[in-house]
Amino acid sequence: DDHLITAKQLSREDVDAILDRAAEIDADPAAFADRHADAILGLLFFEPSTRTKMSFETAIKRLGGDAVDMGTVESSSVKKGESLADTARVIEGYADALVLRHPSQGAAKMVGEFVDVPLLNAGDGAGHHPTQTLLDLYTIRENAGLDDLTIGIMGDLKYGRTVHSLAHALTNFDADQHFISPESLKLPRSVRYDLHETGANVREHTELEEILPALDVLYVTRIQRERFPDENEYQAIAGEYGIDLETLEPAKDDLTVMHPLPRVDEIAPEVDDTDYATYFEQAHNGVPVRMALLDQMLEDRQ
Ligand code: CP
Repeated sequence: DDHLITAKQLSREDVDAILDRAAEIDADPAAFADRHADAILGLLFFEPSTRTKMSFETAIKRLGGDAVDMGTVESSSVKKGESLADTARVIEGYADALVLRHPSQGAAKMVGEFVDVPLLNAGDGAGHHPTQTLLDLYTIRENAGLDDLTIGIMGDLKYGRTVHSLAHALTNFDADQHFISPESLKLPRSVRYDLHETGANVREHTELEEILPALDVLYVTRIQRERFPDENEYQAIAGEYGIDLETLEPAKDDLTVMHPLPRVDEIAPEVDDTDYATYFEQAHNGVPVRMALLDQMLEDRQ
């Protein structure tokens, strides 16, 4: 099938092809404007989203197509008890491809067994977020390069799906990956196992200062409050693992600071005006990268 469920599916060649196409789009968006005039993208978002949903919608419109949106759980027939599988099977009849975000880990894999049109996982609980990874890789390639990379990934490594997908994808490249988190939010054992299986160069830290001066990229993440079974556990670590100008003093001058956003308080606003700040550019890269992915996918099916 043509589904994109996890970043583990993406080889280095797959990634290079999509990022190269995204760079072509960035250089000359008008050349891609009418490529998929009849294409309809189905948006199924069972969880809140600003960037992923709106950049997919922008991407399909910039390719000449359009999107149909299930709306929220409250405004759709999910509210009447319709199952996820039935919802997806209905909307695949309206669309050429589907984008799914859902709070349950494994939801996209399950739906992929029911639908024939390509399904893009836009986040399944604490599982994966492979299209975020593609725009993350594009941003890294543009700012720091993907070869000889030393990256620090900090914050909620347990529940952060963007982290799980990015860590897998970076095993395709010659990257030293440093994971910085409190003990309670370390990478899940399954992800750590997969990384070690690939022979990836991985280290774990509890303090950013141990590794900050060596980093080319610092990827900061939000503590995923909505995934904590116990609010007290969240409160115990809320506010830690953030950065401000003082924290960044020992960093290289050309450090690239990224964040999938939304941020809460992990990056002080004073960092926004520095050359380190790359997170809004990163969010904007969602459009050319998702255009490239949709363009390739729809072309393959013609
Ligand atoms: N980065 C990201 O997935 O953002 P949204 O939740 O706003 O889509």
